[in-house]
Amino acid sequence: MKLLRFPVFCCGAILLGAALLPVETLGSILKIKQLCKFCDVRESSCPGKGVCQVDCEKTAICEHDNEVCVSIWRKDDDNTTVETVCHNPVNPLYGVILDDYNNTKCIMKEKKDMDTKFFICSCNDEECNENIIFNSKPLVQSPLGSALLVSLVPPLIIAIVVITSFYSYRVYRQQQNPRKKGQPRDFSDQRAIIAEEGSDSSSQLANNLNHNTELLPIELDVLVGKGRFAEVYKAKLRQGSSVSEEHRFETVAVKIFQYEEYASWKNEKDIFSDADLKHENVLHFLTAEERKGQRQYWLITAYHPLGNLQEYLTNHVISWHDMWLLGSSLASVVAHLHSERTSCGRCKVPVAHRDIKSSNILVKQDMTCCLCDFGLALRLDNTLSVDELANSGQVGTARYMAPEVLESRINLENIESFKQADVYSMALVLWEIISRCSAIGEVQEYKPPFGNLREHPCVESMKDSVLRDRGRPEIPNSWTSHTGIQMVCGSIEECWDHDPEARLTAQCVAERFDDIEYLDKLSDCSDSEEKLLEEIIVVDEK
Ligand code: ADE
Repeated sequence: MKLLRFPVFCCGAILLGAALLPVETLGSILKIKQLCKFCDVRESSCPGKGVCQVDCEKTAICEHDNEVCVSIWRKDDDNTTVETVCHNPVNPLYGVILDDYNNTKCIMKEKKDMDTKFFICSCNDEECNENIIFNSKPLVQSPLGSALLVSLVPPLIIAIVVITSFYSYRVYRQQQNPRKKGQPRDFSDQRAIIAEEGSDSSSQLANNLNHNTELLPIELDVLVGKGRFAEVYKAKLRQGSSVSEEHRFETVAVKIFQYEEYASWKNEKDIFSDADLKHENVLHFLTAEERKGQRQYWLITAYHPLGNLQEYLTNHVISWHDMWLLGSSLASVVAHLHSERTSCGRCKVPVAHRDIKSSNILVKQDMTCCLCDFGLALRLDNTLSVDELANSGQVGTARYMAPEVLESRINLENIESFKQADVYSMALVLWEIISRCSAIGEVQEYKPPFGNLREHPCVESMKDSVLRDRGRPEIPNSWTSHTGIQMVCGSIEECWDHDPEARLTAQCVAERFDDIEYLDKLSDCSDSEEKLLEEIIVVDEK
């Protein structure tokens, strides 16, 4: 009875103590001996993967306090064994410190540097070393792991929130902007493109040289121009890759060179790559690509739906105001090319175009010129090689060649000579523009300069007209009854002077255009008012 009562009293005291004492204190007071599998070393069929039973029928109460259950799996060439023992973790076992025995499961850890393959686990729950577990991730997070988790999760959540908000905002913006939603946009307004720089349009993808090996998603449309070295196509530049964006595109122009015309593509690409060339009246360049599959080189630029100036003048008679816009923008873009300074005053390399003609000028929607086709352009820097200079004698289109170019007597020593030759060609284009302006009176159908010659006159027949006969396109007296036209024609004649040195600079022509912007008012004035205005202009010029 007493004996019976003692355990009841004892258990009651223990339970009461357990309820009142902290866990650690309780553990040290109650040194309960561990119950473990204990078969020492036995052969085993456990492959060292997954979970194995140790196949030990002996369960033992460990002899000493603080001992824990341990299982060891070994494999050498001949056999595989499992050892099950009790062990006090204070002491190393086979040189191994048991540092994580505080588990209910026996998780195997490999110990290297042993003679055999060697895995060991330790735990402190009843018979916990019966099932040995391989390839399991640690059940208890290491302090470093927990610290990393705690420090990485909040920034990760913030990043996800920011990206989601940004993406939602972009989707919202695109939905607000009907032009970008499915509506084709053309690149005819260069300023519009420039204004959008920094936006997310695909033109940004393409900006300048495509250093990416990925080619732009472009679908060619119709042929819009054919030159000596290349063909130009209207094309669609697809905007996005998702299904909802499939129908969004921008209209661009693609100039295609066959592999044989590499030099021309390379020259134009290199000229376009100079950021200082950028000007509102220079064709806006997007990117250059090598299309290996088709053995082609591409230049991708803005597209101008009004076409080139020659086609435009063939089909339209223009007003004084449009003549002024076309003429002054042509003079200012040529002046920009020739200049040694950018509009901000920085130094730049002057460029000679060397093939100025009405078919190399596009008409922008705002009725200004857009100079294109830089395949023959020459950067007039001090580093021009002898070869480059030697090849610089006679290039361009015979009809528009200056007398000294026709003769191959251009002064290669002086870079100004190249600019003077450009000014001659520009004068012929200004003449073409005037010839189709209603301000001259009765307007004839379009004819190119030296229009009496055959379609593509050769250098020899141009020499006859320009050098032997000193011929120039005709400026009829009737044209000069309009003061503004008379003034432009005066400039034209100074620009096509036989003597290159006597020619005006493009900059001077541009400034003269600035002075006559409002002269079309004269056509609406009475004779006396016109005389008065003429006097004002004369006084101004002095
Ligand atoms: N013809 C040649 N280049 C062109 C362009 N960029 N846009 C329209 N027509 C062209």
